[in-house]
Amino acid sequence: MPFEIIRNDITRMRVDAIVNAANSSLLGGGGVDGAIHRAAGPELLEECRRLNGCGTGQAKITGAYRLPCRYVIHTVGPIWQGGHYGEKELLASCYRESLRLAADNGCASVAFPLISSGAYGYPKEEALRVAEETIRAFLESEELMVYLVVYGSEAFALSREKHRHIQAFIDDSYIGPEFEENQRRRFWQARRADIRYSEALSALPDIPDGVKTGAPVPKKADVVMAAASLPEESLSDYLKRMDEGFRDMLLRKIDERGITDADCYKGANMDRKLFSKIKNQADYHPGKSTVLALAVSLRLDLPETEELLRKAGFALSDSSIFDLIVKFHILHGDYDIYSINEALFDFDQKLLGSLN
Ligand code: AR6
Repeated sequence: MPFEIIRNDITRMRVDAIVNAANSSLLGGGGVDGAIHRAAGPELLEECRRLNGCGTGQAKITGAYRLPCRYVIHTVGPIWQGGHYGEKELLASCYRESLRLAADNGCASVAFPLISSGAYGYPKEEALRVAEETIRAFLESEELMVYLVVYGSEAFALSREKHRHIQAFIDDSYIGPEFEENQRRRFWQARRADIRYSEALSALPDIPDGVKTGAPVPKKADVVMAAASLPEESLSDYLKRMDEGFRDMLLRKIDERGITDADCYKGANMDRKLFSKIKNQADYHPGKSTVLALAVSLRLDLPETEELLRKAGFALSDSSIFDLIVKFHILHGDYDIYSINEALFDFDQKLLGSLN
């Protein structure tokens, strides 16, 4: 099941459970803890009083009262002391224990804040890495929709440094919309010429066997000229002629890679239901980010990715930041959907896979 990083106030999340970054008394505090108690109302504190606190790295569950979710899972993150006091393992344990509680209580979706990264001082980028790794490992075997909710403008600071090279790639590659339009026009002109060339070739009278070997191959330009009288081919006719459709190519690539369907949709950070829709409903048209997620999961190189996209009716554009970021990762052989999504998130773009 998918994992998504989003920018939001966790108290507004309409999920089965939200996680609270609490302290060991479980009696409220500042930060996200304060926000959750304020939004839930005094009954939450009442219930928390009966829990007798909670150890660091542990988690406990309560009702959610006035919050738009069913449960609040309270977990106590480690206080950062330089990283040599088991902070990483304790933080990972917070995520694991909370996810376990959510799954055991029948939750299908859960939202986390970035535990310990506020008052408890855990460096944000490292806190994010621990959260991602632990959530990912859990989702290998469990069906849950997990959101990591980062709050306010601080999210921008998360991986800016790490993504400096992506920014450089965007700056080098980004082209304006007019150039793009010209390129598109040229592409279709060339395509149409190709189609008519091959039609004209097949319309040529058969050459008798005896002279075939020595017969000159017609020059492309001549044949295209001769083909000028052929009726213009419409885009829809052209698309009809493409023998292998999107779904066929997808299934062929899964076969070629020797992976299972589950490997494919997990690697695409995709919901199992969405994948089976794509696989089984011939008339279902996946969105561009879904197609790209599948291309990433299948580790397609750039030409193959473009082919898969084309078959689904899309293209990569150098005037789209989203496209450039995905392209950057593919060109660098980085097919880790989470790291691509992290970069997309950082640049305020829609993410790959998930539920779209
Ligand atoms: N929604 C999502 N994230 C939030 C929200 C919100 N409404 N508010 C803050 N954050 P912190 P900790 C982010 O300090 O570091 C409390 O007093 C925040 O920007 O809430 O685990 C407890 O009682 C940061 O990235 O939790 C404990 O005493 C992240 O949530 C102590 O703080 C966690 O920041 C726990 O410290």
